[in-house]
Parts: sequence; C-alpha cells; structure tokens
Amino acid sequence: MGTTRLVVIPAEIIGTINPNIYGHFAEHLGSCIYEGIWVGEDSPIPNRDGIRLDVVDALRRIRPPVIRWPGGCFADDYHWRDGIGPREDRPRTLNIWWDSIESNQFGTHEFVRFCRMIGAEPYICGNVGSGSPRELRDWVEYCNYPGGTALSDERIANGDRQPLDVRYWGVGNESWGCGGAFTPEEYAAAYRRFATYLRPLQRDPLTLIACGPLANDRDYSRRFLEQIVGTCPPQHRLPFQGYAAHYYCGTAGTATEYTHGQWYHLLAKSQEMEPLVVEQRAILDSYDPQRKVGLIVDEWGTWHPVEAGTNPRHLFQQNTQRDALVAALTLDIFNRHADKVIMANIAQTINVLQSMVLTDGARMLTTPTYHVYAMYAAHQGGQAVRALVEGETIDWVDQDGDDGAAHKGSLPQVASSASIRDGNLTVSLVNTHAAEPVEVSLALYGADGTIATRTTLASDDIHAHNTFDEPTRVAPRVEHPDLAADGATVTLPPASVTTLTIAL
Ligand code: AHR
Repeated sequence: MGTTRLVVIPAEIIGTINPNIYGHFAEHLGSCIYEGIWVGEDSPIPNRDGIRLDVVDALRRIRPPVIRWPGGCFADDYHWRDGIGPREDRPRTLNIWWDSIESNQFGTHEFVRFCRMIGAEPYICGNVGSGSPRELRDWVEYCNYPGGTALSDERIANGDRQPLDVRYWGVGNESWGCGGAFTPEEYAAAYRRFATYLRPLQRDPLTLIACGPLANDRDYSRRFLEQIVGTCPPQHRLPFQGYAAHYYCGTAGTATEYTHGQWYHLLAKSQEMEPLVVEQRAILDSYDPQRKVGLIVDEWGTWHPVEAGTNPRHLFQQNTQRDALVAALTLDIFNRHADKVIMANIAQTINVLQSMVLTDGARMLTTPTYHVYAMYAAHQGGQAVRALVEGETIDWVDQDGDDGAAHKGSLPQVASSASIRDGNLTVSLVNTHAAEPVEVSLALYGADGTIATRTTLASDDIHAHNTFDEPTRVAPRVEHPDLAADGATVTLPPASVTTLTIAL
C-alpha cells in the first residue's frame, strides 16, 4: 500500500467556488427530456404538471444550481415559438440532429417550471445557426420583460404572470460545428450582431455566453478573441461574461466492460481537462487582463459510443464506478481553478451520456456519478483553498486502445481539492488505483480541526453500477470518525471517492 501526504493550507484561498460549476445540461435528445423529465399530465407516472416527481426529488437532493437547455446541437435548429401556447396546438417538428419527431410539449414554460422545481437557474442556449438576432432578442423579451408589450403579454396569457427571469443566455452552441459551421472570425461577427440586441430588460444583468472551442483548441480561441477584440468598441472589449469550451473525454472499452488498462486510460483522458482550463484561461486573460470574463465548460463527461443505443433511447449509457471517478477528478480540477471557472455543465442529466439518473418507464435509479455530485455539494459556494498532494504516480498501459493501438501514460494515484464554508473544511480525495488502497496522511497548516464525517464511494468491482434490479449496488457509506484532522491517516479503498467534513 502506497503512502501519500495531503497538505491543506486553509489560509491560501484560491477563490469562491461558483455553485454553477456543479451545473447540468439537458437536451432534446433520446430520452433525456421526454420520459426523463416530461411524462405529461395524463401519465400514470406520478407527476406535477407533466414533470415526473421521482426525478425532481432525486435531483433536488444534489442541489443543481443551473441547467442548460434545449441543446446542444438541437439548440441551433430550435425555434422557441414552437414550444409555447396551448400544448395541443404545438407543431410536430423534425429533430434533425437526433433523428426523432419533436412534439414540442416541453418548451420554455415547462423548462423554467422544471428548473424552479429542482431549485436550479435556467440557462437557455439560443439559436444562432438557423435563427435570427430578432428571434433570440424576442425570446429574451418574452421571458424577462414584466408586461405591457405584445411578447410579454403573450407570456402572461400563456400562464406566467411574473417574468421568468432567465439570466444565462448562450449565443449559439458549438458554432464551429452543428451551430452553423462558422470559422472563428465568422462567429465573432455573428456573435457581435446577435449580442447587440440582447438586453437585460429585468432587474438582473444578463450573463451572455459565447461559444468557445472543442477541447483545448488554442488556435480557435486566439482567432475568435483576436477578431472580437479588434472589432468591438473599447467599452465592450469582450461583449460576453462567459466563454464556453466543450470537452468529452470519450471512452476506453465500453461503458461497463473495460480492462485495468482501459480504466486508467479513461481516467487519464479525463485529466486533459486540466491543461484545457490552464491554457484556455491564459489565452482568455491575455485578451481580458481585468479578468471580467469567466471560463465555462458547458458540456463535458464520458461518452461510451459502443453502449449508446438507437432511437428513441439515443446515447443512453450505463454509468459505473469509473464514471464516478471521472466526475470526481474533473470537479476537483474545477474547484482548484475556482478563481476562473464560473460554470460547468455535465452532459446530460437524465438517460443520456454521463447522467445523474436513469429511467425505465416508471422506474428510476441514481448513478454513481449522481453520488459524487451529492458528496461534492458541500463544495458549492465554498472558498477553495490550496490542497497539495505528494504521492506516487501510476504508470499504465492500455493494450486495447479503441484505435487498435496500445497506449500508455502515468496518472497521479491521489487527487484532491478542498474548500471552506460555514466553518467546515470539505476535502475530497480520489484513489485512482484500480486494485490497491492508499494511506493518506493529512496535514492542516495553521489550523485545527476534527474529521466529523467521512463519506466513501467504493466498490469491490471497478465495473460496479446500479441497475433497475439492484439500484443501490453503488452507494456512499457515511461514517463519523470524530478524529483530529492534523496528523490523521485516512485509508482510501481502491478505485474510490472520499469526502471528509472537517469541523474547524
Ligand atoms: O451532448 C451531445 C452533443 O454533443 C451536443 O448536442 C453537442 O453540442 C455536442 O457535440
């Protein structure tokens, strides 16, 4: 068993962890919206106003701060007027990206109602690719203007007297691909034009979010930022508050079948989020020296194509202990960059890709990734503080790469992040070793504290996952050690995620 040292320095504050780092994403894709959220008022599945209550109850418990909707690729072919008004009159339209017929039963009002039910802020991604500046500015007015204009009165007639107060607006999605296949320069011009007409109209300022690169594409970011800085008036040097990259770490093996080599390979791929954040934030800061713009990753997670089903459960995938570690390692990266990362949205909440919840008719289960979000909820809004790991790295080889080649690399055995909120220090710890436990000796610099709670997500099998027949196969274990933190030794089981709550 290896020994690792974790030094936490409570006085060295990185920044406040924006709760939105724990955000989610829900697209009209497969069974994420229809079946996952919307079952309709007449469904035998318990629901309120058509929204299923078991999913609402489960999501509320992980305190989702924000949800991005309606896509994804779907967003740039979505026309919001199709999704308002009496449901029986809404048109059936073709979902060209995900090969299905869209009933439009779930539209703006239903989305915002769902957000309110789970306690999240709505984040609407607008249509730039096939839409117009007018269509998007009208959507903002429809949602946010109090009343007395044709659009705001139409919202009131459709059931929402109070403004919907949608603060987060994405100006397109993946502008370099399904969002219009723009060059960075073309998107800069389109962005400027669309954003000119997006006004707050309500008490809160809007947070406008521009499309950033796929993964760590530095050339894309430099070209887009160079163009927009050069063409905007000085007072609007960067006319957005968030700049959003997408990064899917993909797969190695399948969702549920993988070798030890593939276990490490996927965890290593998830760690490419760190250079993405470091390098993209550096590029952003070079155009925004006052650091007014925050970095966002509004789509991320695992993508296991082999398991992805066919319509209507498109991109449905199982979720194992390995996905849980990908989530924990990635959230630790965002926590460690709390001074720059202002939002992140794992894809996609229910039934699609790395989801929190899976449904099968009236049945529902929570995934190992869900449990990580529950365990890490204590980080939301905390002050991220320095947590330094001194330990071993694992040299791994994956003989069975998806491309037919062998891959190798090295991965730290232990990763961590730490934050303080309400007099408690929350420390998260991941043991990436597939087979061996590790002892971590804890040092708290300049502070005393007691480990009040220890929560562990571990399993005897690295492939463990929850099924509808065994929905709690992977679930956290909670203990109350009541142990002095400074100098304590904590043993992390193999392939596990642990959080410690230390009362300071
Ligand atoms: O999340 C699935 C798809 O992945 C989204 O629609 C798109 O934005 C991305 O490429």
